[in-house]
Amino acid sequence: MHRDPLLAEIERLGPWFHSIDLGGGLRTKTASISGEPPDHPAGTWQTIRRFVPEDLSGLSVLDVGCNAGFYAVEAKRRSAARVVGVDVQRLHIRQALFVRRVLGLDIELHRRSVYNLSTRALGHFDITLALGLIYHCKHLVLALENLWQVTKGTLILETALYPPGKEPRPFEHKIGGHRRTLHSFGYLENPIDVQEAPFNWFLPSRQGLVALLRSVGFEDVEVVATQGERAVLVCRKSPMYRDSSTLGRLAAALTPVEVETRCSPRQPLRFTISAENTGAVTWLARGEGPGERGAVHLGAHLLAADETEIHWDYGRGALPGDVAPGAVVEISIELEAPAEPGRYRVEFDMVDEQLAWFEDLGSPLLEWEIQVEPGERGAPSSRAARVAPTVALRES
Ligand SMILES: C[S@@+](CC[C@H](N)C(=O)[O-])C[C@H]1O[C@@H](n2cnc3c(N)ncnc32)[C@H](O)[C@@H]1O
Repeated sequence: MHRDPLLAEIERLGPWFHSIDLGGGLRTKTASISGEPPDHPAGTWQTIRRFVPEDLSGLSVLDVGCNAGFYAVEAKRRSAARVVGVDVQRLHIRQALFVRRVLGLDIELHRRSVYNLSTRALGHFDITLALGLIYHCKHLVLALENLWQVTKGTLILETALYPPGKEPRPFEHKIGGHRRTLHSFGYLENPIDVQEAPFNWFLPSRQGLVALLRSVGFEDVEVVATQGERAVLVCRKSPMYRDSSTLGRLAAALTPVEVETRCSPRQPLRFTISAENTGAVTWLARGEGPGERGAVHLGAHLLAADETEIHWDYGRGALPGDVAPGAVVEISIELEAPAEPGRYRVEFDMVDEQLAWFEDLGSPLLEWEIQVEPGERGAPSSRAARVAPTVALRES
């Protein structure tokens, strides 16, 4: 490619935060834009590179908040089999697309927020990078949960911290009848009209961040480097997942597959629901004892249109087998239409038998309206309508 058109494109796509070597003596930038060194992130890379294998052959790497793609390029240069960069800002994805084109590298790029990461959309990654990202996250816990979900092996996280030496020390405090450790997370007061992506929200204390990363599911969290007010953490997922026999981070995303909308009184109803295990523990298909304690089922509640609860334990659907975190399964559930005509709501929720409904742990319900028409009681079921394509079971 000729130099002048490249220079013009670099100029058009600015300002650049990443200084990337495009070959032939060309770089994406030569001066600082917001106080960072002009060759940023070359300095940070000297730290990060120590925790990234020299040879990434056969491995997949996801860079969240990839900016113009410096780290994605480095991962590809280390022969990673699959490299995906995501960033919420269009400007940065445009820059990364340009860099990819000039360097001729096979990197997938998506404009996508950390809040919309999912294994369903992107798959699982051996290594996830979240560098200079989390202090931009208004929804910090959701961001960390999503990073956990898409990571198969290791998350490398780089961040600014609560100014060391100024943060209150963690202490034990009784709250809700339990003694808990309280950590400090600094909230950066923002003007009311701030936009999210370029702004800063929370600066976690070092110990608070380690505790939070453990609680979202990373078994092994280590602060591997600190420099001034910044730190690098390496967070590993153990291949030995916990399961639903004890309460852990249970979460599900439910979508309708086959549903009923109109029926007659007492008509048999059959629903098929797609359930993604978005939590940190394997759902067991079978539990202990007559109550199946620890087994996960699809459950349903029946409510009248005015919210009156009619039947809390309206039905159960069994898993086709154990479901690992990240996997998606279809579950069928047989119900019986109410005896009286009217409008009703069926709420679907997963349940860890004798331990918890997933809704109580923070997962959204799947709500579905049915209309019971006056008519012959127990008339045979009409065919259920298929509302969404079947989702293939994904290996975790
Ligand atoms: C400080 S820069 C760090 C860039 C790069 N990771 C690095 O370490 O040099 C933060 C990046 O995160 C991106 N970002 C901010 N909020 C995000 C979000 N919710 N989801 C994905 N990316 C986000 C910004 O657009 C920006 O590119």
